[in-house]
Amino acid sequence: MTDASLVDGFLADLRPAVTWVDDHIEIIDQTKLPAELAIAELRSVEEVVDVIYRLAVRGAPSIGSCGAFGMVVGLDERQPADRPAALAVLDDLVETIGNARPTAVNLSWAVSRVRDAAGKGSDVAAIRSLVLNEAQLITSEDRDACTQMGLFGMKELAGINNIMTHCNTGRLATAGWGTALGVIYAKAASGEPVKVYASETRPLLQGARLTTWELQDAGIDVTLMPDGSSATAMAEGRVEAVIVGADRIAANGDTANKIGTFTHAVNAHYAGIPFYVAAPLSTFDTSIATGAEIEIELRPNHEMTSWRSEPTAPQDISVWNPAFDVTPGKLITAIITEVGVLKPPFEESISDAFKKGDVS
Ligand code: MRU
Repeated sequence: MTDASLVDGFLADLRPAVTWVDDHIEIIDQTKLPAELAIAELRSVEEVVDVIYRLAVRGAPSIGSCGAFGMVVGLDERQPADRPAALAVLDDLVETIGNARPTAVNLSWAVSRVRDAAGKGSDVAAIRSLVLNEAQLITSEDRDACTQMGLFGMKELAGINNIMTHCNTGRLATAGWGTALGVIYAKAASGEPVKVYASETRPLLQGARLTTWELQDAGIDVTLMPDGSSATAMAEGRVEAVIVGADRIAANGDTANKIGTFTHAVNAHYAGIPFYVAAPLSTFDTSIATGAEIEIELRPNHEMTSWRSEPTAPQDISVWNPAFDVTPGKLITAIITEVGVLKPPFEESISDAFKKGDVS
């Protein structure tokens, strides 16, 4: 079986998380899952920013794709008269869309990449065409990167069958079959038995609502567990390895990912089991030396004090709701990328990956 058919078999007939259709964006509204597979159409920048902020589209690569297509939506909406006006609109959109969520570097990276590509356009029509083309390229490259991560990860995790993951890193979070979940899909597609433990991922339940839905849909054995049970699951020998995605990885391997990831990494270290990160190069931010420089998004109180309008805490309680944490690189066994598996010392392996584009 070829690499392509391995992936196509899994993605066939599945709707991508983010699609460009004629003159607008369509997303799977992830806030409605698993109850409903609802599609939202985005025809304004306000809608693009809103769905990214509300996590209707979420996961670092998916918000990158959505933000990139949002640049086309913004050009169409604002109708600039000439080249300088079009480039000024795009400069503004880099800020407006790029800042919708601060931690996942894929978003600011994608809108900046689109803006750079637009600079070659000689008039408004050429600029629009370059912008759309770049957004499509970002999306197709992510799909290919997912395939490669799956294949590298499958080899790296050969013989490991009981795997824990956190948040959602699959086809909803990317343009392909996912980062961490891509490794799981690749193992399953190659016929290896795989059992997944998915932590529920409070407070917005990406693990419970999205990862279990996705894996069950693909026929993969998945068990839902509370976030707080990972140490016990490891102590009981249920879990042989942990694999998660990432929102931003610093030059030393420190990795920002969904809140709770750091706890699972500490638990894995205590239990002596490997802790893997899977992420495309678009998730690395080599401009920062360590994770201390990563801005952590703080989310609104209501996400912790209520669930779909039902109170889950006293409404006036003081709340601290960070969306992400930073796992120190020294707790990470390896980082699986589309160009190979990066091992410590990460300063060197990450630098090599960017210099040579190949570390396999
Ligand atoms: O707040 P979210 O749901 O966008 O957070 C997503 C994550 O933390 C994912 O693990 C990460 O983006 C990697 S997705 C391939």
